[in-house]
Amino acid sequence: MPVGGQEHLKVLIRRMAIQKRVREVAHQITKDFRGERVHLIGVLKGACIFLSDLVREISLETSIDFIAVSSYGKGKESSGQVRVLKDLDSSIEGLNVVLVEDILDTGLTLSYLIRVLQQRKPKALRVAALLDKPSRRLIAVKGDYIGFTIPNEFVVGYGLDYSERYRNLKDVCILSLPPA
Ligand code: IMP
Ligand code: MG
Repeated sequence: MPVGGQEHLKVLIRRMAIQKRVREVAHQITKDFRGERVHLIGVLKGACIFLSDLVREISLETSIDFIAVSSYGKGKESSGQVRVLKDLDSSIEGLNVVLVEDILDTGLTLSYLIRVLQQRKPKALRVAALLDKPSRRLIAVKGDYIGFTIPNEFVVGYGLDYSERYRNLKDVCILSLPPA
């Protein structure tokens, strides 16, 4: 699909496949925490759509919170620096926390967040990521719940952006840019 300028989108994961996989991940979480409450923490802004779909498929008592970090500038490359832009609203001490991310890429963001959240003494801390690009990893981080493992391509849609655009696409698409 040709879009603005010379940018080009190619569907990588269709909406129906995402919906099916999100349901499976939610059922796994439901099974793992049977009889308990889970506290989902979405990493803004990329995870908001994944979290919204995921939480509605979990058949347990749930609560949600959000944290915002910045590790990327406006473009495609990580600056390597992680900063908390918006902290959690409430304490996670003693809670079963599932940290919800859009994509696990270099691992810098999640390893930082895991360290910060672990210090706040949750009962359990698990990581759910819709997408995983293991070939890009700089720090060893493993997701407990992974939607899809994908190749080293820059993707947008279903919450993921390029300079804040394309979050609203229903499919996950590969974005190609013209050579600079
Ligand atoms: P990490 O710290 O490198 O693991 O990067 C995590 C963050 O980088 C994600 O939450 C995304 O916001 C962003 N990111 C990494 N890869 C992509 C991509 O392919 N498309 C859009 N955003 C990405
Ligand atoms: Mg982003």
